[in-house]
Amino acid sequence: MQFSVSNAELTQKIAEKLAKALHAGDVILLDGDLGAGKTTFTKGLARGLG
Ligand SMILES: Nc1ncnc2c1ncn2[C@@H]1O[C@H](COP(=O)(O)OP(=O)(O)O)[C@@H](O)[C@H]1O
Ligand SMILES: [Mg+2]
Repeated sequence: MQFSVSNAELTQKIAEKLAKALHAGDVILLDGDLGAGKTTFTKGLARGLG
């Protein structure tokens, strides 16, 4: 599955949606250079987890 988004807000939205589908013990690997959007993604994920 591949998603392409054009701004930071959408990066967070995707992560927020993914968070709702996670189960205890799931592991996510964030792979990308500095500035790739890992922290942005994590912020959205944290919001999705409450
Ligand atoms: N999908 C995107 N399109 C364009 N810019 C983005 C996207 N996602 C994040 N950014 C921006 O890229 C910059 C670096 O993001 P950041 O999450 O700090 O990267 P990392 O943690 O991987 O170093 C930030 O200014 C962020 O707002
Ligand atoms: Mg970072």
